[in-house]
Amino acid sequence: MRNKLIAGNWKMQGSLAENSALLQSVSAGAAILPTVSMAVMVPFPYLAQAQSILTGSRCAWGAQDVSEEPSGAFTGEVSVAMLLDMVCLYTIVGHSERRARHAETDARVAAKARAAIEGSIIPIICVGETLAEREAGHTLAVVHRQLDAVLACLGVHRLAQAVLAYEPVWAIGTGRSATPEQAQEVHAALRLRISNADWVVGAGLQILYGGSVKPSNALELMGLPDVDGALVGGASLVADDFMAIGRAAATA
Ligand code: PGA
Repeated sequence: MRNKLIAGNWKMQGSLAENSALLQSVSAGAAILPTVSMAVMVPFPYLAQAQSILTGSRCAWGAQDVSEEPSGAFTGEVSVAMLLDMVCLYTIVGHSERRARHAETDARVAAKARAAIEGSIIPIICVGETLAEREAGHTLAVVHRQLDAVLACLGVHRLAQAVLAYEPVWAIGTGRSATPEQAQEVHAALRLRISNADWVVGAGLQILYGGSVKPSNALELMGLPDVDGALVGGASLVADDFMAIGRAAATA
């Protein structure tokens, strides 16, 4: 039985003042959801604030990206060691917004995932197709290509130390989530591909769904057999909504 993880992705949003109330509500809310893992992925400047408010709570924190390089002349980048300094448990890698805006290739995303794992940070590795790719019937080919790059770089056994997130690009921030059938089909296909390499890793891997998850659709999505939680953008900025999604995961 896989545990469920509800991870908030704040993206480039927040301020010291706003975050304080949100983090305190999430900390209190996570305390009454002992069966669900909760986490927030905050902008780099707020990691210290997340650490200070969430230490000792049942909510973990992490980053939204990490460099694949250990240190050096990489202006603007943040290393795994720096995330460890801030006691991050997770980092997102390969979010579609980074793939699109920063031209991150499958190979680079895989290298970031490997660097995170080698530094004992759990990468939440995002895969997902665009609307054009879905409409052309290429959904599974795209997510398999993205997953295969990770498998080639990491090997299947190290993938056991990661979390996968299926995030159809057309569902992110649009209010239009994948239907339960669409989500389950892709999650099952991803799990099967991993299971074909190693059954135990495939059976145990947490695969999150992301893309317009909200209180009104969370119960249905979290109840799907191959969905092990959610990567939540917009709704993670509203404490009541984020906790409602956590409760849905606890009851699903
Ligand atoms: P959304 O974002 O929940 O606002 O659609 C999800 C994500 O990008 O991780």
